[in-house]
Amino acid sequence: MAESEFDATAAEVEEVIRNRRSVHDYSDETVADETLRGVFDLARYTPSGYNLQPWEFVVLRSDGDREALAECAHGQEHVVDAPVGVIVLGNTDPAAHADRVFDDWLAKGYLSDEETRDALVEQVREWRDRSEDENRLWTTRSTALAAMTVMYAARSKGLSTCPMEGFDPEAVRERFEIPDRFEPVMLLTMGYPAEGADDREGPRKFRRPVDEIVHVGGFDDSE
Ligand SMILES: Cc1cc2nc3c(=O)[nH]c(=O)nc-3n(C[C@H](O)[C@H](O)[C@H](O)COP(=O)(O)O)c2cc1C
Repeated sequence: MAESEFDATAAEVEEVIRNRRSVHDYSDETVADETLRGVFDLARYTPSGYNLQPWEFVVLRSDGDREALAECAHGQEHVVDAPVGVIVLGNTDPAAHADRVFDDWLAKGYLSDEETRDALVEQVREWRDRSEDENRLWTTRSTALAAMTVMYAARSKGLSTCPMEGFDPEAVRERFEIPDRFEPVMLLTMGYPAEGADDREGPRKFRRPVDEIVHVGGFDDSE
């Protein structure tokens, strides 16, 4: 790849990161199925522990479903305003896809032999015996990253999003018949921003400075 091509790509990535905003005002423009599919296609490339990919997404587009989702989200109006609502789910069973994942590693030479593959599958299956809290934390780590990928992928296609933790997971579970093994990790709204919505204009919200959030060489609490 020529250096100039790389620079262009890096600049685009930086644009997406710097200019993504949590948007509450959406236009009426429909999000094409193909565009939406493209967003979730990119989400698949999110990293995950052992590549176990615990995330799944429930996409809600009808007025009735989005109204029901808003009710589960303490009445947050942008859930209805946005043409797309997404329930981001994390599978709390670490071994749900272990066979496929480690078969793939073996086939592609990441593992030396079948014995190593079987041992890994077994190790991940044993995680099923960990506490519920541990497996919820496990799935939340990778699934939250997938939610972030969805938001950046959406932004790269001109869509805006808003992540939400302000919802009742049990209400979501019940209303949308989510199986017990899934943890509702986050909700997202998605759509094209209304003209003047603050992802294109308006000041960027405060961000803590680099020197405050980065501890080079270790944590020093006396600083
Ligand atoms: C985990 C998480 C939960 C959030 N929950 C809500 C929420 O329930 N409702 C909402 O309107 N915004 C929510 N937000 C959006 C934040 O308010 C927003 O990201 C923050 O103010 C920074 O603004 P920006 O995303 O536009 O940079 C949430 C963001 C994150 C990451």
